[in-house]
Amino acid sequence: MHIVDIIIKKRNGLELNKDEIEYFINGYVKGDIEEYQASALLMAIYFNGMTDDELFYLTDSMIKSGDTIDLNQITGIKVDKHSTGGVGDKTTLVVGPILASLGIKFAKMSGRGLGHTGGTLDKLESIPGYKTNIPFEDFIKQVNDISISIIGQSMDLVPADKKLYALRDVTGTVESIPLIAASIMSKKLAVSTDIISLDVKVGNGAFMKNIEDAKKLASTMVMLANKFGRTAFATITNMDEPLGEAIGNSLEVIEAINTLNDKGPKDFLELCVDLAGEIIYDANLATSIEMGKELAYEQIKNGKALLKFKECVKAQGGNPKYIDDPSLFKLAKKQLEVKANKEGYIESINALGLGVASSHLGAGREKINDKINHSTGILSKVKVGDMVKVGDVLAVIYSDLNDTSSVIEEVKASYKIGSNKNSIKLIYEVIR
Ligand code: URA
Repeated sequence: MHIVDIIIKKRNGLELNKDEIEYFINGYVKGDIEEYQASALLMAIYFNGMTDDELFYLTDSMIKSGDTIDLNQITGIKVDKHSTGGVGDKTTLVVGPILASLGIKFAKMSGRGLGHTGGTLDKLESIPGYKTNIPFEDFIKQVNDISISIIGQSMDLVPADKKLYALRDVTGTVESIPLIAASIMSKKLAVSTDIISLDVKVGNGAFMKNIEDAKKLASTMVMLANKFGRTAFATITNMDEPLGEAIGNSLEVIEAINTLNDKGPKDFLELCVDLAGEIIYDANLATSIEMGKELAYEQIKNGKALLKFKECVKAQGGNPKYIDDPSLFKLAKKQLEVKANKEGYIESINALGLGVASSHLGAGREKINDKINHSTGILSKVKVGDMVKVGDVLAVIYSDLNDTSSVIEEVKASYKIGSNKNSIKLIYEVIR
């Protein structure tokens, strides 16, 4: 087999077979296939797309390029959730405890934040003592004992994706639905969970900017999971404004705790209950999705989900007092209000702009090894469609910077006030 023949075949719009795709992935990971040849093939895929079979073989070869994680020692139904990334997205911190409080096993390996999106591990590390790198055996034991553990992932999962993603990033081939689907799903399918919940974000703060692309990505990922014999569903949700109010690590954990106390922002609560409800239904603990959602909300109202979160924090070395009393969280020294300078409706909010501004406060990182400041961030106090008067607070900036003036300008510029009362639909569609 020759890689140039494979490139030409794909360039000409023909379907690659299993052997050809395996040859490419194995050769590329080993270093036998050159970066320029892989780039050419990626570009051919970008323009010609992939059939369902090609995508299955690609994902399968990518999974086989590294370690896989066997969770069979965990008894019961094991669930994973994934979000394509948004601003203020702290759903794992609420959905996980809801599910665990019902005995559904939430064995979660999370990531760190990069660019304008936050990462669950960084958020959890705002809780003093919380360890995200516990040994795998302890992780399994904890999930068996209390149904929940949230850790970082230390194994060599899907090395093919690390190499391919880096190449896509510099060859203009990131925005390809089959390549994104294979990238995300290879990492999800390498872990032996039973149910996979996928939150596909769409809007100005998300990777997918329009609903058609989001739908296509969602249905492609669900198709892939099903081809691998797994249960998956994808919820297409809005990211044209931050989710909830809080952006930044400690602020987001506080908001998650408030939500577990049933005192959180309406949109954030709605999404958490929705995602958990769908999973509860798939786990056969409810006979309809509606009942699943009711059960999910019940676990918040009866305090069991909060208790589960506290148990998880304690089991991983975190100080549980912070969960009882979120005022213990250290927040930035300066808290600066950004106020409306005219009357009108909030016509739009630039979620991406707020995510970037929060990152400039030190809450996020540009490079994976950058240090972050857990105490900084932004509370976005208004939603699209709200009426504001001059002087109303749009956002509160939590800053440790000596000079916050440029971030204040970034935050101000993220809110557009005008005469149009727009409204945002949070959940567009669920694809099963
Ligand atoms: N997230 C991933 O993991 N991979 C992609 O290709 C895009 C987003």
